[in-house]
Amino acid sequence: MVKLQILLAVGIALLKSSFTSGETYTFPEGFKIGAASASYQIEGGWNEDGKSPSIWDTITQNQVAPCYIEDCSSGNVAADSYHMYEKDLQALEDVGFEVYRFSISWSRIIPDGAEVNMKGIEYYHKIIDGLIERGIKPLVTIYHWDLPQYIQDLGGWTNPLIVDYFAVYADVLFEHYGDKVKDWITFNEPSVFCGEGYGSDTKAPAIPTPGIGDYLCAHHVLLSNAAAYKLYRNKYYNDQQGRVGICLNAGFSYPFDETVDPSIPEKAIQFDLGKFANPIFSKDGGYPDVMVQQIGSKSMNEGRRWSRLPEMTQETKDYIRGTADFLALNYYSSGLAKQREGEPDGISWWADTDLDGGQDPSWKRAKSTWLFRVPQGLQDLLVWIKDRYDNPEVMITENGWSDDGQLDDDDRVEYLQAHLAAVIRAVRDDQCHVTAYTVWSLTDNFEWKMGYTERFGIHYIDFDSADKERVPKKSAQFFKDMIPTKTFEY
Ligand code: NOJ
Repeated sequence: MVKLQILLAVGIALLKSSFTSGETYTFPEGFKIGAASASYQIEGGWNEDGKSPSIWDTITQNQVAPCYIEDCSSGNVAADSYHMYEKDLQALEDVGFEVYRFSISWSRIIPDGAEVNMKGIEYYHKIIDGLIERGIKPLVTIYHWDLPQYIQDLGGWTNPLIVDYFAVYADVLFEHYGDKVKDWITFNEPSVFCGEGYGSDTKAPAIPTPGIGDYLCAHHVLLSNAAAYKLYRNKYYNDQQGRVGICLNAGFSYPFDETVDPSIPEKAIQFDLGKFANPIFSKDGGYPDVMVQQIGSKSMNEGRRWSRLPEMTQETKDYIRGTADFLALNYYSSGLAKQREGEPDGISWWADTDLDGGQDPSWKRAKSTWLFRVPQGLQDLLVWIKDRYDNPEVMITENGWSDDGQLDDDDRVEYLQAHLAAVIRAVRDDQCHVTAYTVWSLTDNFEWKMGYTERFGIHYIDFDSADKERVPKKSAQFFKDMIPTKTFEY
């Protein structure tokens, strides 16, 4: 028995040493560290003070067993940040964060498509003022998935009309908050809300027209981003001197095995990140060549019924190119890619790639089925971005680990350290231009389809309690200890 314990202890020590190298990591001068959240996932107050329903209110409130959300829950109350935002501000201050990335609920600001709701405007003023008083920089996401239901009723992101609606909404935000907010993010993870909301049904509005709705959505997101960016430049930049970026998510793709041609993982990244990054950040603009070749309108004539990449004229390419001052990057995990054998089962953007994927069995998995610990993927992805897009400024705006919510969240601490180390290596050794990192997430919150069953917070919340205290986990303590020196051992 004792022998077994010794063997186990040795095994664990070896495993740990294979993860860590005991190096000292220091962030470069001026690098900012913070935390992130999103309106629907934390706010609650879903119908208060004039707010109208968003697509997430609709989908969560119309559930019948077996529910759409894993635990049949909703964001009706969530972390109740609509009433308890001061607890969020306090938690940010206690840790010593320098940036807070949060999003604004569109249907709180323009509930009916016409009038601006001043109660909604006031709510975010209170948060922004509270941040600035504490010396914390607001980093504001304009759209983090909670589309007003009245716009979805017109077809949502599949209707070109949405470009005007979005520009009007962004205009209202720039006008009201632009004196105080200097860093704006137009969209959060369009590949996810387009792919899963209109290409499949795992996100609201869950109206799948695969290979059609997902590409139309992506196209309108690119046009909306460009419209908001140009509006800011033309109407506000002179006075406000801020910046507008877009938040894209990606993993790195590695070859499935040694037989896989290097063009295969490259294609996987192009279909995922390149779909949005190439039109905005590349020299020539437009969708990546590999996408056009494979699923452009020409290939439809060759029998690919379901593939329908909207055509981008030269004029549209020029309109979209260069419409971001920085790239906000969300990184969680990576994958392996290989050529698919046989026909795809089902229709999706992934099926359109003709690729198959997987994970390395040595990668540790979080509570979320899709989340594997691959810190090297973050460094490799940053280098990929630097090489493809002429080293744009990147802020890592999400990175995090899910579990059951334990306060001793050692796995999260280890995951975060490994990824922060990867960021530092990318800057130090590869000269990537990364300037900030905001951890996902400040608190436990409503994890979309998984409800409250997967927790990403560095603060624990008992969602059944009335006071919803933000209780720091070990990971919050890690940031608190690290931020003053911007140095840690790993
Ligand atoms: C990315 C999304 O932006 C965020 O809303 C979500 O909670 C995290 N990933 C974790 O899944």
